[in-house]
Amino acid sequence: MSKVKFYRGQQLPLEMHKVRIIQKLTLLPIEQRREALETAGFNTFLLQNADVFLDMLTDSGVNAMSQDQQAAMLMADDAYAGSATYTRLHDKLVEIFGMEYFLPAHQGRAAENIISQTMIRPGTLIPMNYHFTTTKQHITVNGGEVVELIRPEGLEVTSDHPFKGNFDVEALRDLIAERGAEAISHVRMEAGTNLIGGQPFSLENLREVSETCREHSLPLVLDASLLADNLHFIKTREEACKDMSIREITRAMADLVDVLYFSARKLGFGRGGGICIRDEETYKKMRGYVPMFEGFLTYGGMSVREMEAITVGLDETMDEDMINQGPQFIEFMVSELDRRNIPVITPAGGLGAHVDAMRFVDHIPQEQYPAGALAAALYLVSGVRGMERGTMSEQRDAEGNEPLADMELVRLAMPRRVFTLSQVNYVIDRLDWLYQNRRMIGGMEWEEEPEILRFFYGRMRPKQDWVTPLMAKFREDFGDSL
Ligand code: F0G
Repeated sequence: MSKVKFYRGQQLPLEMHKVRIIQKLTLLPIEQRREALETAGFNTFLLQNADVFLDMLTDSGVNAMSQDQQAAMLMADDAYAGSATYTRLHDKLVEIFGMEYFLPAHQGRAAENIISQTMIRPGTLIPMNYHFTTTKQHITVNGGEVVELIRPEGLEVTSDHPFKGNFDVEALRDLIAERGAEAISHVRMEAGTNLIGGQPFSLENLREVSETCREHSLPLVLDASLLADNLHFIKTREEACKDMSIREITRAMADLVDVLYFSARKLGFGRGGGICIRDEETYKKMRGYVPMFEGFLTYGGMSVREMEAITVGLDETMDEDMINQGPQFIEFMVSELDRRNIPVITPAGGLGAHVDAMRFVDHIPQEQYPAGALAAALYLVSGVRGMERGTMSEQRDAEGNEPLADMELVRLAMPRRVFTLSQVNYVIDRLDWLYQNRRMIGGMEWEEEPEILRFFYGRMRPKQDWVTPLMAKFREDFGDSL
């Protein structure tokens, strides 16, 4: 928690910033939320933001900017080629990560496209701690195969393990021994491992992965999109790093990898992305894809204004007081939910609070999308928009079989520096009510199921009408309250 102690010993996060610009919110009555939900095919991705009270869908591109970021945006250099804005971003990345080459991309998945096209040999494996949706898609379309080598504790929903994102290095060694290093294109490590609840890995674990990769001349790629949270956790949970500065930890991590890419919609509090590369040969291979898919080499599809904001945002990421707000709010939310026996991933990670739908609505079979149903029910009773991270977010295999996800989660993302503690308390309150009435929530089925990344724009419907009785119970308990 915060370094400031409260007189009565409460564990409360304390912001080291103040709010200077606000956006008005509306909370629709439940009857209108039902209409909005039906229009959105029960998929929270398809809700209009005007119908949402607290948008906890994601922390992507929705983090609050600082006044220094806003000021920098006015100084952007619009030049198509050779923009001074690019030079400032490039120099900041070299200063922080110490890798010589940088390629800009319009967002994280665009970086994944370039990395996958250049680094994957068809028919090879890409071992990683855990996949991310867009990453897996890019790897698969380029003929690679994702091999998840997360340590077993990573998939335990409740745990007190500080580094659930750790790579199973033993399993990596076994895989190399069994299949040979040539069967592997590269190894990928994801910071703040998204799909298992924003869980970090330790610096020690990254070092072991890196040593194994270097022994076998395998390139190691770091997805640094959620690096800020991972840095905070290394600093606060890894004994050997407690006296290191955030900047020192960052450099120690970067020194262990060959390629580092990021979504600047997360890292750097802006909107964009990019790839930092250590060696010239790899850089040259990747370079051609930037003008082809993104834009000229000195903007790569990003707005120069955003690039200026990212440059300042990256510098702020090196400041503990700037990156601890998210994890501390999440920790508060997770411990309050846990105290009310609401099933939630522990320990608290980065990114957001992750409610365990498998236990919350344990009467809904996985084939009926418990996490999707819970996300829809939560919007109905609160106007809070979360995201399904479970079987809906998986993809059918070539035979059309549906893999059931390892976890069924509703992610309640905590955009950085955006919400107040009373808003977080409102979410906790409505989740508490919903948990007491959980048996009223039913399953869902597809109304329209797209082939690729179906969770983004697929439409669902309740298997039977559980919405009407749930609404009636809400009215009974809350009267005419919103
Ligand atoms: N890698 C990780 C770990 C991510 O969390 C994301 C995006 C990406 C790559 C892709 O980056 O969106 O800029 O193209 N995560 C968002 C989220 C979508 O909501 O968690 P992008």
